[in-house]
Amino acid sequence: MSKKFYITTPLYYVNAPAHIGHSYTTIAADTLARFMRSRIGGENVWFLTGTDEHGQKIQKAADLENLSPLEFADKMVLKFKNLWKDLNISYNDFIRTTEKRHETCVQKILEILFQKQDIYESKYEGWYCTPCESFWTESQVQEDFICPDCKRTVERIAENNYFFKLKNYQEWLINYIQTNQDFVRPQFRHNEVLSFLKLNKLTDLCISRPRERLNWGISLPFSPGHVTYVWFDALINYISAVGEFDDKGKYHSKWWPADVQLIGKDILRQHAIYWPIMLKALDIELPRTVFAHGWWLIGDTKMSKSRGNVVSPIDISERFGVDTYRYFLLRDVPFGLDGNFSEEAIIKRINSDLANDLGNLVYRTLTMVEKYYQGKIPEGNAPIADSGIKIKERINTLVSEVESCLKPSADLNFSASLEKIWELINMANKYVEQTKPWNLAKESKTEELKSFIRLLVDVLRTVSDGIYPFMPHTAESIKDQFGKDKIKKGEPLFPRIQ
Ligand code: ME8
Ligand code: MG
Repeated sequence: MSKKFYITTPLYYVNAPAHIGHSYTTIAADTLARFMRSRIGGENVWFLTGTDEHGQKIQKAADLENLSPLEFADKMVLKFKNLWKDLNISYNDFIRTTEKRHETCVQKILEILFQKQDIYESKYEGWYCTPCESFWTESQVQEDFICPDCKRTVERIAENNYFFKLKNYQEWLINYIQTNQDFVRPQFRHNEVLSFLKLNKLTDLCISRPRERLNWGISLPFSPGHVTYVWFDALINYISAVGEFDDKGKYHSKWWPADVQLIGKDILRQHAIYWPIMLKALDIELPRTVFAHGWWLIGDTKMSKSRGNVVSPIDISERFGVDTYRYFLLRDVPFGLDGNFSEEAIIKRINSDLANDLGNLVYRTLTMVEKYYQGKIPEGNAPIADSGIKIKERINTLVSEVESCLKPSADLNFSASLEKIWELINMANKYVEQTKPWNLAKESKTEELKSFIRLLVDVLRTVSDGIYPFMPHTAESIKDQFGKDKIKKGEPLFPRIQ
């Protein structure tokens, strides 16, 4: 296992508040960061998130509120930070693309690439999708002039611009992806990117906008009449936040390369094609893994700010609880696939997995320790029956089972790792029903009863460690109740919902 772990989320646009989709990526990143901190020590983990604040889309949103783009962004950043606080997101750094450290780094990179002639000037004629902040060619938008990604109307543009030579790196990238199986995950996205690159010739990327058209962006150092295209600017955050270039143009960082870069499948092209080529052109190592997860849908449609069908993570987490919300997102849909968001689905998970399985095990164990031992957790080491022995074995292997599901090569399978934890919970619940502790008590089988209850407590301590990255409050609450030699009964963890 590597000695350090650097994980990133996308930088979210500040044009509107975060919805469930944004919180999904961030909660997944938080869970992995917490898991890795418990494995390799907090000082070896760096978790970066932040906001993407330049570009036409932000300019338009600010205009609507009669604010300058920066005033508007300042206001929105507070909302993002408050939400992450409410959702218990343990990021180490929050970068805004309007910060000086970022601007300096972007301009340095532009200079290096211009010197190397990887950036050149030319005329751009084509189409632009503002919601996606993407350039498209004539053939890509077809006769109806819609964005091939989001299917909304594109705008015609004809401008003098600067271009980045993607073309020169196409063969190199194909080869790199082929020889680095973990670079693009999940597996089917790896295949998708490869076949795209083999079937299509890349065109050079337009990386500027003239100031007459868009004034809100980072100036090109070699052409002050142009600002940097928002995507070229934003991707650089992953390195501008954690390192610097020296005078010779060499990049130095304690954290780079990122170990995992989490994104949604909507921005795979930028992260699996533009980004690695930018890094290669700068002679910087590539991230170990770019992982594109699926979308939360409402009905058949992607939940999206610009489509106006969003659900607020604040409402949902206030109603159902932060940990329940975190659990639901990571348990209900295998990471990588799309999922349908509905309150019924959340309620089902609460009543079955949380109230019935986990809540019940906590409750019955507390009750027995109270009833038979006046709240003092008994010692005892003689598991009863095969099922007791099997439970002991699972206690010992749980962490490594969870870990193997959470590897990039296993496609960061959060839901499978939760299933492993719930298998242990359910084994313990069955064990109670089979063993019938009330009979042990009646028959004065003192040693057996002690060992039996002690094993349940050991299960709960293990479960508490296991769920900690997913549900930090719940894990702490179980630890409070069972962590010392006397139990400390708390409020029921998950009341059932009708
Ligand atoms: O694309 N389901 O920002 P953005 C799941 N600023 N995840 C979703 C989602 C959904 N319905 N909707 C959004 C940008 N997301 C750029 C990124 S990075 C250098 C710049 C999540 O505000 C998912 O992670 O549009 C997606 O990739 C991201 O939010 C897009 O956020
Ligand atoms: Mg988007």
